Formats: sequence, structure tokens, C-alpha cells
Amino acid sequence: MRNPDSERSRTRRFLSILRHYRSQYAAWEASGQRLYRETVLGAWASSRPEHLYYFFRGIDLSRFKLLVDLGCGDGVVACVASLFTHVVGIEIDADLCRAGRDASVVLGLESRVDFICGDFTSQQITKADCLFVYPDKPLARLEAILTEAAWRGTLLVYGPHLPPERLKLWDRRSCGRERLVMYTTPSGSGRSAPGLRP
Ligand SMILES: C[S@@+](CC[C@H](N)C(=O)[O-])C[C@H]1O[C@@H](n2cnc3c(N)ncnc32)[C@H](O)[C@@H]1O
Repeated sequence: MRNPDSERSRTRRFLSILRHYRSQYAAWEASGQRLYRETVLGAWASSRPEHLYYFFRGIDLSRFKLLVDLGCGDGVVACVASLFTHVVGIEIDADLCRAGRDASVVLGLESRVDFICGDFTSQQITKADCLFVYPDKPLARLEAILTEAAWRGTLLVYGPHLPPERLKLWDRRSCGRERLVMYTTPSGSGRSAPGLRP
């Protein structure tokens, strides 16, 4: 059963994250920066914190030990997910990565979230039991990495636009027009997907 005190405290912390990102986006727009940009390995656009919070509560993200956000952009997913579990955000763009790290410090989340500025395909991502991706390109390379490692965790894919082709669909959630779809590798049985009930 959920503890109402910790739920209230988590909601308060979530509202601080929401305020932080809203004011950051307003400041970026006021200074002429668009909320979409090309990066050296893809394109940045950010997930919506309200939807993330809804999804992460719904699937009880706290059942996972470590979530890695593959291409974490400005850190919004990492910050929201850190209310539930330990998180590492990996992002190739140094400015976005810095924005994520700064947000985690301002919001007092730095003990639960780390950021790595680099290419996630060269990191040990299969150590995580949960991976998150908001794809900016087809997921074939990621699928190959996970399948070759016989990874048995859960991949959360935000949005319906670029679904994995070789992974097993495990569960699907909606919030308005937003989607979060959960996958395992062919070697991971649904039963072994940590923390998720079919
Ligand atoms: C659509 S954005 C998603 C940002 C964030 N996950 C979110 O949901 O708000 C995709 C991000 O992945 C980054 N990216 C793409 N390929 C990458 C790679 N191989 N290593 C690290 N970052 C990568 C891009 O630079 C971009 O910032």
C-alpha cells in the first residue's frame, strides 16, 4: 500500500520540478532558444513532466533499482524518475547535460541522479534493470546491444513513433495522446520483467 506521507512529499517535489522546467523553458524561449534542437547524434525535444509523473506512478517505477535515460536531453526524465529510484542520464550534448546536472542540484536531487556526457552506446547500459528512451531515430542499434547482451530488464519507450522491431511488447500506457510502451528482449520472459505485472 502506498504511504500517504511519502506520496505527498513526492508530489511536492514533483511540483518543484514542474516549476523549475516551466521557468527554464520560458527563459530559453524569451532568449530566442527553441525547445527543439539538433545535436551531434540526433535531435532534442523534451518529454512532458506531467505525463512522466503519471506514467512512473502508474507502473510504480520504485520497483526498479536503476533507470538509465538514454539521451537524457535537459534531464527532465532523470529528475522526475529520481523521485522513485536511482537514475543515470546519458546525453551527448554538453549544454543539455549541464542543464540536467544544474537542475538536479537546484532541486536537491543530486544524491539520486547522475549525469554522463557521452554516447550511451559506449556505456555499460545493460547494468540497469530499466532503460528509458524518447527515440530521435530508429532503435535498431539499441536493440542489437540489448539482445546481444541477453539483457533481461525493461525498456520504456516514450511515444509511439519509433517502436523497437525485435523486442517483445510487455505493456502499454496512455495519458491523453502520450504513450509509454514497455518492452523486454526476446530472452527476457514477461514474468522476469522486474516489477511489472502484465
Ligand atoms: C528526443 S530527445 C529526448 C530527451 C529526454 N530523454 C526526454 O525525454 O526529455 C533525444 C536525446 O537523445 C540524445 N542522443 C541521441 N543519441 C544519443 C547517444 N547515442 N548518446 C547520447 N545521447 C544521445 C540527443 O542528443 C537528444 O538530446
